[in-house]
Amino acid sequence: MALLKILHYPEPRLKKPSVAVTEFNDELRQLAEDMAETMYEAPGVGLAAPQVGVLKRMIIIDCSPSEEPNDLIVAVNPEIIATEGESLEEEGCLSVPGFWANVKRFSTVTMRYQDVTGKTHERTADGLLGICMQHEIDHLEGILFVDRLSPLKRSLFRKKFMKMLKEREQKNEA
Ligand code: NI
Repeated sequence: MALLKILHYPEPRLKKPSVAVTEFNDELRQLAEDMAETMYEAPGVGLAAPQVGVLKRMIIIDCSPSEEPNDLIVAVNPEIIATEGESLEEEGCLSVPGFWANVKRFSTVTMRYQDVTGKTHERTADGLLGICMQHEIDHLEGILFVDRLSPLKRSLFRKKFMKMLKEREQKNEA
């Protein structure tokens, strides 16, 4: 097991689409384990492979990390196959530290995915889990939650975030 480095906005790899997983091997299982360790350590409720620099279609989610047993979902080649309703909830992202915003999503989604052995599953969820599925699958298309804000809010975010990065750099230099 190993902790992986989480890439932060505006790292270009976060903007790239990921490729489908075709080999369900030890390497994939190792990546899933390392991603889970990295997510719990952060701590966060979801992590997509491109966030650790691997442009493969795999996400992990655990929206109830404090419950026993936990509800870790490792989803390979995930896709949303049904949607219902609308929701507007606050989101954050391990790749955009220190920033939260309300994002419009479907309120209920059904996700079809494969596990690390290649077996196909379906899961329907609303609430935090449903939002998490949509947020993590977006990462596989190179879409961050800030990309779903209005143009005005997005430009405010950019200014605020770049200012924060600059201040952090100056602090490190001092
Ligand atoms: Ni994210």
